[in-house]
Parts: sequence; C-alpha cells; structure tokens
Amino acid sequence: MSDKEIIPYRPGLEGVTAGISAISDVIAAENRLIYRGYDIRDLAQHCAFEEVAYLVLMGALPTRAQLEAFQAELVAHRELPAEVYAVLRALPRGGNLMAALQAGVAALGMLDPHADDHSHDANLKKAIRLTASMATLVANGYRILQGQEPVKPNPNLGHAANFLYMLFDREPEPLHAQVMNLTFILYTEHGYNASTFTARVIASTLADMYSAVTGAIGALRGALHGGANEAAMEAMLDIGAPERAESWVMEKLAQKARIMGFGHREYKTGDIRAVILKDYVRQVAEQTGRADLYQIQETMERVMLREKNLYPNVDFPAAAIYYMMGIPIPLYTPIFAAARIVGWSAHIIEQHDNNRLIRPRSDYNGPRDLPFTPIDQRG
Ligand SMILES: CC(C)(COP(=O)(O)OP(=O)(O)OC[C@H]1O[C@@H](n2cnc3c(N)ncnc32)[C@H](O)[C@@H]1OP(=O)(O)O)[C@@H](O)C(=O)NCCC(=O)NCCS
Repeated sequence: MSDKEIIPYRPGLEGVTAGISAISDVIAAENRLIYRGYDIRDLAQHCAFEEVAYLVLMGALPTRAQLEAFQAELVAHRELPAEVYAVLRALPRGGNLMAALQAGVAALGMLDPHADDHSHDANLKKAIRLTASMATLVANGYRILQGQEPVKPNPNLGHAANFLYMLFDREPEPLHAQVMNLTFILYTEHGYNASTFTARVIASTLADMYSAVTGAIGALRGALHGGANEAAMEAMLDIGAPERAESWVMEKLAQKARIMGFGHREYKTGDIRAVILKDYVRQVAEQTGRADLYQIQETMERVMLREKNLYPNVDFPAAAIYYMMGIPIPLYTPIFAAARIVGWSAHIIEQHDNNRLIRPRSDYNGPRDLPFTPIDQRG
C-alpha cells in the first residue's frame, strides 16, 4: 500500500471495515442479527443449537439426515481424551476456568495429528471436535478445578442439555435445557468482535485452529467483552434488592463507572439478543421464585435508558438466567466460549480458505532523533 492510500486511525478501530465475511451480519440500525442469511429470531424460535452450529459451520441449514449425522459426530467427540483430563487435574484448584480452557484447547491441539492441516475439510473436522469438546471442557473443567470428579457425557441428551447434565450430574429440567439451548444459539456468532478478530489475526499467520482458539479465549475473558456477564451478575448481587437498584445505578454513574451488561459497540438502540432473552428471564424467575432479580433487571434497564440512553446487551439477561438456574458465576464467560467456539471456528475456516496476513500499521508518536548515550555515561 502506498503512503497516499493510508487510512486515518480510528481509536478502537470503530467503524473500520477489517475484512469481508459471509458468516453473520449485525444490522445495528434495524436491531437485527443474521447468521448465514437467517434472522436470529427465527433460529432462536425454531432450532436446536446443533442445527445453528451446522448452519454457521457449513453455510446452509441441514436436512434432517444431515442434522442427525452431525449430532452423532458431536456426541462421538464429547468425551475428552485422558491426556486432557490429566492436564486439567494438574492445574491449581480454584484456578481461573478461562485459563483452564486455554490449557485444555492447547492440549487437544497437541493430540491432533492434523492440527497443521489447514484444508477446508480438515478444519471442519477440528471445528466439530472443538464444538463438542468445549462444553465438556467447561463443565468437567469446572468440576475438576473444584476438586470434583468429571461426569461422563450423556449421549441421549442434546448439546445444551448435556452441558447442564455434566455440570450438575443430573438431568436438567426442560425449561432450563430450553433456555440453555437458546443462550448457546444467541452466543454462537457475532461478526468481527474482539475475540473473533483475534482468532482471525492468529489464523492469518497460518497458525493452526487450536492456537487461534486459545487466543480468542484470552480476548473473550476481559470485562469489556465476554467477562461482562460475570461482572453484570456481581452487580445485581451487590444491589441485592429491587428497591436499591435505582440508587445503586445512579451512584455508579455519578462515579463515572461502567455498568456491565449495558451498551454495545454496534447496537446503539438495543441488542436483539437481549430482547429475545428478556421473556425467558421472567419465566425462569417465576419458576425459581426469583421475581426480585427480574425486578432488579427491570429497574436497572429503565434507569440506564433514562440516564444514558443505553440498552442492555446479551450478557445482562444471560447472567441472570444462569444465576437462577444455579450455575456458579465463574462459568458464565466460559459458557459464552463454549457457544462462540462455533463462530470462531467458522471465521478461522473462512480465513484459512482465503488467507491474507492481517497486519495493520501504527502511527508512531514517540521521539525519533535522541542522541545515544553509552551505558556508562547514563548516571
Ligand atoms: C461494550 C462497550 C465497550 C462499547 O463501548 P463503545 O462503543 O466503545 O462506547 P464508548 O466506550 O465510547 O462509550 C460511549 C459513552 O457511553 C458510556 N458508556 C458506554 N457503556 C457504558 C456502560 N456500560 N455504563 C456506563 N456508561 C457507558 C461511556 O462512558 C461513554 O460516555 P461519555 O461519552 O459520557 O464518555 C461499552 O458499552 C461497555 O463498556 N459496556 C460494558 C461492558 C459490556 O457489557 N460488554 C459486553 C458487550 S456485548
């Protein structure tokens, strides 16, 4: 690129087109999200997570026979190799589960003789294996970090229900399985967000899928990205009671603090994923006797809209739903990763299929002509 073509810097690359992709479209002005041409509202209403994963990875909705074959392949790869369990057991008890996921994915990569085959078909196989494994890594990784024994995956349950089964060592209630399936679908894919972009940058060096995914997990961990669901739940617990919600938010805003679970780089008039989940927050709150949490959310939402014109993002309702289902808070961001593995994989495949090294430039703003002082003369 010649100097004349240099594009001016935009902080945070906001509004900068950094690639072309056929995987998903965030149509922020219309508050719409599209996976491979299909509106997220239709997918959320009609699909199992596996059907959406097939769509995102393969590019088209499956026939029934294709879906059954895909589900069977996922089931076959749910159990982790013994070596991965050995890695998880060697990690410090009570350690960070996102770091454990990185270790687990790195170990899976070391065990895959085809890790460095970047052909479309080899990458698809890795994507399916990773999609199946990640849920087990999250559930059983958490159990192991807590000093508990892992639970064998249940081949008779769908992907989301089996995740809950492994986590709690019992079959989930139908509403919980349904809502888990829904959050998995809503977390599956979201364009060039920070973790997906990270994955594409790594893949663009022709590094393998496992390396790209461990990088993406690291990017997801931060509070401005996936970590927001855990921080949002901590905030709701700190508020404690609906009558305290308004003053709590006002106090934080007066301190110029960010309220996690609100705002979005793309959506400025509401996140459709949060809109879809809201009714399920109410349903799970009624079922678990936590109307107070629903009311806390209602008040926070009202005050944030009034004071900052900010809407909740997907992490806000998802956090409350997970909490009411009894899921420990340190699992919320890892669960996001277990769903987003599909989007990451699809982007890595797309990057490898048509690769160009991602290597932007930076504007240097340091000094240029300092006189060099030998070390003995620097005082
Ligand atoms: C997601 C996020 C990083 C996107 O932010 P962005 O596009 O970079 O927007 P900015 O950080 O420029 O914020 C614009 C304004 O809104 C405010 N704002 C944005 N999100 C806010 C929040 N959650 N709480 C309070 N104020 C917020 C900023 O302080 C800023 O106000 P100012 O203009 O008075 O300084 C931001 O909304 C945020 O930090 N949200 C909380 C974390 C979160 O929930 N992340 C999950 C995203 S799915």
